[in-house]
Amino acid sequence: MLTDLRNILAKAQKGGYAVGHFNATDTDMLEAVIVAAEELRAPVIIGTAQVLLPYGELKLIAPSMIAAAKRASVPVVVHFDHGLSFERCMEALKLGFTSIMYDGSAEEIDRNLQQTEEIVRICHSLGASAEGEIGHVGLAQDGDGGQSGMYTTPEEAVWFAKETGVDALAVAIGTAHGVYKEKPKLDIERLRAIRAKLAVPLVLHGGSGLSDEDFRSTISAGVAKVNVHTDLCLAGMEAMRTAIADGLDYLSVRQRKTAAIKAEVMRKICLFGSAGKAD
Ligand code: 13P
Repeated sequence: MLTDLRNILAKAQKGGYAVGHFNATDTDMLEAVIVAAEELRAPVIIGTAQVLLPYGELKLIAPSMIAAAKRASVPVVVHFDHGLSFERCMEALKLGFTSIMYDGSAEEIDRNLQQTEEIVRICHSLGASAEGEIGHVGLAQDGDGGQSGMYTTPEEAVWFAKETGVDALAVAIGTAHGVYKEKPKLDIERLRAIRAKLAVPLVLHGGSGLSDEDFRSTISAGVAKVNVHTDLCLAGMEAMRTAIADGLDYLSVRQRKTAAIKAEVMRKICLFGSAGKAD
């Protein structure tokens, strides 16, 4: 069933688990995520991000995501991830996304605040939820995870959440997007300090390449939503490589890829503790 972030993240926060957010650029990935969530009876968030649109156009992927969410037997949020422009966020809303992240974290802080506040207001007036980001979760390939100057401070987090009215807040505590060059060191104390001051559900971006212990410690310190994309691509790539080496045809290669992505989503859902939390 199609839903937004508010209800499922409130339950996650209360229950001490996190809901997985998985970005998909095509219907194979979409199917893998939905089937994995249904098999594990887990609420789930499916989405795509503005930087991923060259690999899967919004107008094409959105109707598939919304149809899949509506017919799913578990709660599914269709969330536009890292919207970088007002126009793309509005397009996603018009296409029926039930949740929008506006990411102004690379902008001046006042502009981030003002733009996020406006998008939150529009989302709420249309019954959708909204996520924002303060501090900046950058790119693993640039070594951004280790840049403590980009980390979120508890004071900024409180101020930003209060002024904007976001339903979920992405924070920077040492993760980054993509493949890590070195094992990331997460600032769990900072996360605890933010959680202690703020009731809004917290989001961990850059969920690929983290250890099982990283998930345990961040979720027990207050993360209620974890975003993952790269690990699904890596699982799919590896499956395609072996399927091609095994001499399989195109459709069978796709099936192996989808099965591998589904297995990776299931592994993550189990680590996040959201299995069995759909009802
Ligand atoms: P990864 O691709 O590193 O898993 O990050 C995903 C993400 O945070 C999307 O918002």
